[in-house]
Amino acid sequence: MAEEKIEIAPSALGTKDFWDKRYEMELTNFEEHGDEGEVWFGISAENRIVKYLIDSKTNKNAAILDLGCGNGSVLRKLRSKGFSQLTGVDYCQKAVDLSNATSRAEQEENEEEQLVDIRFEQLDITAPRNEFLSSKFDVILDKGTWDAMSLSEERENRLKAYLELLEQVMTEGGLFIIFSCNFTFEEMSEQFGRSSLKILCEVPATHSFSFGGKQGVTSTGAVFQKTS
Ligand SMILES: C[S@@+](CC[C@H](N)C(=O)[O-])C[C@H]1O[C@@H](n2cnc3c(N)ncnc32)[C@H](O)[C@@H]1O
Repeated sequence: MAEEKIEIAPSALGTKDFWDKRYEMELTNFEEHGDEGEVWFGISAENRIVKYLIDSKTNKNAAILDLGCGNGSVLRKLRSKGFSQLTGVDYCQKAVDLSNATSRAEQEENEEEQLVDIRFEQLDITAPRNEFLSSKFDVILDKGTWDAMSLSEERENRLKAYLELLEQVMTEGGLFIIFSCNFTFEEMSEQFGRSSLKILCEVPATHSFSFGGKQGVTSTGAVFQKTS
């Protein structure tokens, strides 16, 4: 059967300039008002990721990487549940600065809990540094990042680079968990279920809305596993 071509109109959300300005504003808001900024797709999507990892008995020492970590919120949530090897990358330095600032503030507020450090660094998924490619991760997360990256004329090239990164840094049997508001489960399977990545399941919804007599969820989560 011929593959259906996924058509997506380019938008400002597919440009680095948009995210640089956005995180410059969010960092200022955090410094001046303590506002952590936007958690994309809401807390319910974040909770679904955390619940999936806990329910699937993911080791608390698993190396977890969040691609396009924004303000670092999902990694902070995972830390609060006992996950200990956490890394976030984003191509905006201001997002990395915001993630570091929110993480440190949480550590200071909860001094007695001795929360572990989270490693945040600046990295472009489409042009990763060689030394980063020698790292290995058991779980890779993407919430809204591919959604943003795909809003570009460069979508196919970006997807190719993204898949190459996953290929290099995922451990054998490792999981890639992606949340989207733009793509259906089938479209995500088509884009990421390639080479050594095999689709495993859809992340169950914990929160749904009802409209016109139909049930829907606000974001779709798909899990892939690296197999040889
Ligand atoms: C919709 S936001 C999601 C942020 C965060 N994952 C969340 O759920 O709150 C998209 C994020 O992807 C980042 N991003 C977009 N393209 C990227 C790229 N090529 N490499 C790394 N990060 C990228 C943006 O800077 C932004 O933080």
